[in-house]
Amino acid sequence: MYDIVLFGATGFTGRLCARFIAQNYPLATKWCIAGRSLSRLETVAQELKHLFPNRVSPDIEIIELSPSSLNPLVQRTRVVINGIGPFHRFSTPIVAACATVGTHYVDFTMEIPWIQEVIKNYAEVARESGSLLIPGLSTSTPSDITAWLIASKMQESYSTSPAEIISSGKLDIKAMSSGSLNTVLDTFETYGSGWYLYGDPSILSAPFRKETKTSWVARVFGYQYTRELGSLATSFTGSGNQAVVYRSASQNPDLYGPDFRFEEYLPANGVMAAVFVHLLTKALLVLLSFAFIRGLMRKLATRMDSAPDISQLRNVERAECRAIGSGSGEAAPRILASFAREGALYELTALITCVGAKVLLDRATRADRAGKDARGRGGVVTPSFLGIEYVDRLKDAGIKIEIGLL
Ligand SMILES: NC(=O)c1ccc[n+]([C@@H]2O[C@H](COP(=O)([O-])OP(=O)(O)OC[C@H]3O[C@@H](n4cnc5c(N)ncnc54)[C@H](OP(=O)(O)O)[C@@H]3O)[C@@H](O)[C@H]2O)c1
Repeated sequence: MYDIVLFGATGFTGRLCARFIAQNYPLATKWCIAGRSLSRLETVAQELKHLFPNRVSPDIEIIELSPSSLNPLVQRTRVVINGIGPFHRFSTPIVAACATVGTHYVDFTMEIPWIQEVIKNYAEVARESGSLLIPGLSTSTPSDITAWLIASKMQESYSTSPAEIISSGKLDIKAMSSGSLNTVLDTFETYGSGWYLYGDPSILSAPFRKETKTSWVARVFGYQYTRELGSLATSFTGSGNQAVVYRSASQNPDLYGPDFRFEEYLPANGVMAAVFVHLLTKALLVLLSFAFIRGLMRKLATRMDSAPDISQLRNVERAECRAIGSGSGEAAPRILASFAREGALYELTALITCVGAKVLLDRATRADRAGKDARGRGGVVTPSFLGIEYVDRLKDAGIKIEIGLL
């Protein structure tokens, strides 16, 4: 029985996950790296041996992306970590295998329309088998966890739900792997720009109509202002994170309340900067809908270094998400939550993914010890489903997570 199977360990981000596991998981963890190329997997195993000589190397499993190859491996695994992207092109069979046999699953996809397909096709299967599926765990964790902390604090301190949470999230990206760029291009090729331009926030939850308080000026020029967060602009990743937070709210209505509203923006240096970012983001989304623009960008991707230098990125990249939640009414309580880390963003992806997978692994191990009936129902859940255990372990792993009343 494997505790963890890591698919895509030969990829740029998968390799960082392999290093994280080798460096941080208990020595007794039974794990394997799985993929299609024995020689590339052996190179990863050798690299781990060199970096962590005191650890037993992970096993190597050669797989094809078919049920006959995947099901037997996934069946004897507690948690799958998957880094095979573009996810909508290759990873549906892995999700299907996990949902069918009842194995927990996490990945770091950013492909929201694919997550919608996963929910449509596998949520019910997973519910029955007891498999917990968290596609996009790393991508949405900062937004989803800060929103969940605010909702929990508001219930705990004021016995009420937040009426609104405004989030300001920024990733200081200085380099991209060719795998990431190809995924963006493939996603727009498959699904088009429509959702990214007009973003239905209920794409991952039951359909709803949310009253927006945003003025038409803010909608046209993309400028927002709040006292605590300052000037805010349209965020490229904001609509995806908003969809995930709404899924969390729909799965936990008692905590978030029936009229919960969530919006995510990018911090900006004043009005002009916000308008510029908004127009640039929209223009980029329109351009990505043209095949010849995607073709040009693909040519660029073949010329760029497929593996950015992580040691350089450690000094120049950072991630920060700050969110303000308010209750309804005149004397409404206000709560600030934040999530921040200095360092390379690809390493942050590996950290968030592997810490989440370890929370699931410990739950699965406890359930196995307690007997078959101790396993709860499964489903497609969101990062905040992992709760305070996840928050505490992220903090232990070096992420600064804070919450306070205003
Ligand atoms: N959310 C985030 O913050 C975040 C961060 C980083 C990456 N990502 C996403 O994660 C994905 C991987 O990114 P990356 O930079 O690591 O890309 P990458 O270096 O190109 O790695 C892709 C991995 O997928 C494997 N793979 C591709 N096609 C396969 C197939 N048909 N069968 C089996 N394995 C296959 C590759 O194996 P081979 O070695 O055998 O080719 C490799 O291990 C991308 O979709 C990217 O957008 C998300």
